[in-house]
Amino acid sequence: MEQSIGYIVGGGLREGFKVRLTVPAHEVQEGSFVVCDSGRWRFFGLVTNLQLGATDPRFADEQSDRLAPAVRSALLGRTLFTTLEVYATLMLDLGPEDDSEFLDWQERVEKGLEQSGPKPVKTVPSHHSPVRLADEGDVAEIFGKAGKGMLALGETIEQGHPVRIDLGKLVKRSSGIFGATGTGKSFLTRIVLAGMMKEDVAGALVFDMHNEYAYDDLDSDNDITVLGLKSLFGSKVQVAGLGAGARVRGNSPDFTLEIGYKDFTSEDLALLASALKLTDVASVVLSGLIRAFGSDWLKEYMALTPGLTEENDKGKMVPAPGSVEYWAREQNINEIAARTLHGRLQQLTDRPYVVEKPAGDAVAAIVNQLENGRHVILSFGEHDNDLDYLLVSNILTRRIRNQWVEMTDAAKTNRTPNPKPIVIAIEEAHKLLSPHLASQTAFGTIARELRKYFVTLLVVDQRPSGIDDEIMSQLGTRITGWLGDEDDIRAVLTGLAGRDQLRGMLARLQEKQEVLLLGWGVKMPIPIKSRRYDEEFYAEMKGNAKAKKLDSIDDINDLLGLG
Ligand SMILES: Nc1ncnc2c1ncn2[C@@H]1O[C@H](COP(=O)(O)OP(=O)(O)OP(=O)(O)O)[C@@H](O)[C@H]1O
Ligand SMILES: [Mg+2]
Repeated sequence: MEQSIGYIVGGGLREGFKVRLTVPAHEVQEGSFVVCDSGRWRFFGLVTNLQLGATDPRFADEQSDRLAPAVRSALLGRTLFTTLEVYATLMLDLGPEDDSEFLDWQERVEKGLEQSGPKPVKTVPSHHSPVRLADEGDVAEIFGKAGKGMLALGETIEQGHPVRIDLGKLVKRSSGIFGATGTGKSFLTRIVLAGMMKEDVAGALVFDMHNEYAYDDLDSDNDITVLGLKSLFGSKVQVAGLGAGARVRGNSPDFTLEIGYKDFTSEDLALLASALKLTDVASVVLSGLIRAFGSDWLKEYMALTPGLTEENDKGKMVPAPGSVEYWAREQNINEIAARTLHGRLQQLTDRPYVVEKPAGDAVAAIVNQLENGRHVILSFGEHDNDLDYLLVSNILTRRIRNQWVEMTDAAKTNRTPNPKPIVIAIEEAHKLLSPHLASQTAFGTIARELRKYFVTLLVVDQRPSGIDDEIMSQLGTRITGWLGDEDDIRAVLTGLAGRDQLRGMLARLQEKQEVLLLGWGVKMPIPIKSRRYDEEFYAEMKGNAKAKKLDSIDDINDLLGLG
């Protein structure tokens, strides 16, 4: 067990515990994970502040290096000292101190009559209870031990004890990865996705706007190649490209997708309104179109020619049948608005992957891969502007969610197994989940309905303040790197306890190295050194990790089958 670093001298539930430090201040930092045993309770907490104090302020002002060493060391630590502020997060019942009562208690715990495990802090340790840094066992007690479905996401900052997340639990709710640009979001997303793929907790569908995840990529910071998920998992990861003949970073994808004219609904266009610069009148034209042509509206409308005129009997040029204006007049719709919309829609139909009759059903192709235990990375290739991203991700997600809703309902009715859980990963999530879009997109619906239909989101974003608050509060696990902007910090802490204590910690994380793990999906918040995406990680994902170090007699017994 770790040596004590100090003892409780005051504080309370609201303001946190105060701890007098008995070791040099530089051995403890903000964010350190500390433990305090008091009676039958073990308290867990995070250091949120270090404060210099003096019982007599005169000595604090006095330079102590003029004093004799013996006097000086007597002064430091007694008259002059450091106090830690500890934000208490959890407490664990260790059972009665009396031996026979303890055995009774243990039996009740084993029978499930007594609730064990860490719970929220509801009391305080007694004065002078010793406080120590958390050891590996404490970290494992809270964040889980190595095993099936567990992924070490990083380690505690001072001691380097592994901090794990339970991937099975993670995918039950939507979650998020945040941080200012360049803080390591994409690397961490690779790590989390790789973990999910290795442990087979869910099928992943990644909307890879910047073509980062599938194939190997150059890490420009260090000038080394980092492996893509396709290299790590081979055919278990299928790469989809957009449009026939698509190429992704010089590779030909495993399959290609096309979007048909019939796939567009008026809701999709409402979502694209700002990307296409549509005004309110456009929606009037749109409802006219749907009224007139039904689901064939896009095809029929694009078949009309704008500006086609003919001479009438009075020798005047008027819109000819087959023109946009002619149709508008017939429908009593503003001609200019109709023409503008026609022009804007042309931007959609000009996309090479938007075709009147697609060669295959894009959604069926993706669903088929996911149902067969594979993962799909949809790389946008050269189509990486906002319009492409919004259009493709919305249309596909809406239809995939519908499919999962149908499968879940069918499973309930027929009492057959539920569909395979899937996680949809989206970069630049604020573009799809902004407050005015969140109520309309399939993404908003998915984030809100939790895992009712076995579809959840992995939201990746550098601008969390751009995401609807309600959606943010639904994200169970949030992994966040450094954030500088006050609004972004406020956004990632939405709906969580201890916001004031965590705010400073978040603003002082080391870029590219450290992240804060938090959210109601994790037992307590903790800053960690993030896992490196390197050879060692690849080896573990490929299942040929270096033979485990034999630390204890138990490990040796396990190995020999004697455990
Ligand atoms: N876990 C990690 N393992 C190895 N290198 C990392 C890790 N995290 C961050 N880095 C380093 O930091 C750099 C930036 O990381 P990354 O590309 O993931 O940032 P980002 O937050 O996705 O940035 P952007 O917002 O611009 O997409 C990487 O190129 C890499 O050198
Ligand atoms: Mg990135």
